[in-house]
Amino acid sequence: MSNPSILILPGDGIGPEVMAEVRKVIDWFGAKRDLAFDVSEDLVGGAAYDKHGVPLADETMAKAQEVDAVLLGAVGGPKYDVLDFSVKPERGLLRLRKEMDLFANLRPAQCFDALADFSSLKKDIVAGLDIMIVRELTSGIYFGEPRGIFEEGNERVGINTQRYTESEIERAARAAFELAMKRNKKLCSMEKANVMESGILWREVVTRVGQDYPEVELSHMYADNGAMQLVRAPKQFDVIVTDNLFGDILSDCAAMLTGSLGMLPSASLGAPMANGRPKAMYEPVHGSAPDIAGQGKANPIACILSFAMALRYSFDQGDEATRLEAAIEKVLADGVRTADLMGPDDGTPVSTSEMGDKIIEALDASL
Ligand code: IPM
Ligand code: MG
Repeated sequence: MSNPSILILPGDGIGPEVMAEVRKVIDWFGAKRDLAFDVSEDLVGGAAYDKHGVPLADETMAKAQEVDAVLLGAVGGPKYDVLDFSVKPERGLLRLRKEMDLFANLRPAQCFDALADFSSLKKDIVAGLDIMIVRELTSGIYFGEPRGIFEEGNERVGINTQRYTESEIERAARAAFELAMKRNKKLCSMEKANVMESGILWREVVTRVGQDYPEVELSHMYADNGAMQLVRAPKQFDVIVTDNLFGDILSDCAAMLTGSLGMLPSASLGAPMANGRPKAMYEPVHGSAPDIAGQGKANPIACILSFAMALRYSFDQGDEATRLEAAIEKVLADGVRTADLMGPDDGTPVSTSEMGDKIIEALDASL
């Protein structure tokens, strides 16, 4: 049988730097755990625009549809701000999500003990935090029609449309309930049913799907209250399910509870392929961080943890995923820190590649 395949799309900014560290980790699993992958690499975002004039070439899209998993770094940068909206780097990412139909975006927010002091919240509020946000990723206001900037009388009007079908809500809800069953069996659904019809439908459909999961304790919250509760008492949550836009915002909020955006991975999953594996793309929650790109300062952990999620959700290697997560925890417990995990007076940070090397050392020590 051939090896499972991975397409790496490093993208822009710090994407290539952090992805280089993921490559070390992938190679380690091939060499030391007999888990070899067929890895190919291609362009996305501004990097693709520079070469092809589009943020995702058709042949790259076709490759992404064929592989067992896509690993993406980050897209975007100030250089591309002037581009027409239709070819902005972000469009490449959105095309991948849409055409692969990756409707369930899993964004865990986990506070590593060693970093609890580094959160902007009090330690006892975040220590031990372990929540999972399931964000609907292929519909809602990101993709709804009509959209555009139109002339209306003597001025222009900008329009985006929040639109959800019952089946779109249902499949996202089901993914969230399934995860809740494997975790602490608590699910909180967030919308704004007080102002939006799409929110009313969302709440109804989630409640209906919940009847298939009687063991899961389901609650509902308006998304603005949800944002407040996330900062007030985040440990009240286990799994949160929400729409595309609220999920974008709430997951940034949840991520920062853990100390740094540089720590958070994500998995975007679709329907099962012929081989039983879900269509899948894995990417860090952080962006391309153009301000520190190319300086070896970026934290590669979010991207490496994204590969751990790939091991777990695409390759059925939960134990190896746990091994990798434990290695990262060990490195952090040893006090190894990239610049984002340090205050101005906390000593000298390690570089991106030094962090990668330390994680490899911890993996070696795990054998
Ligand atoms: C994210 C990002 C993207 C989004 C951007 C880069 C298009 O913020 O993945 O959270 O808005 O979904
Ligand atoms: Mg975002």
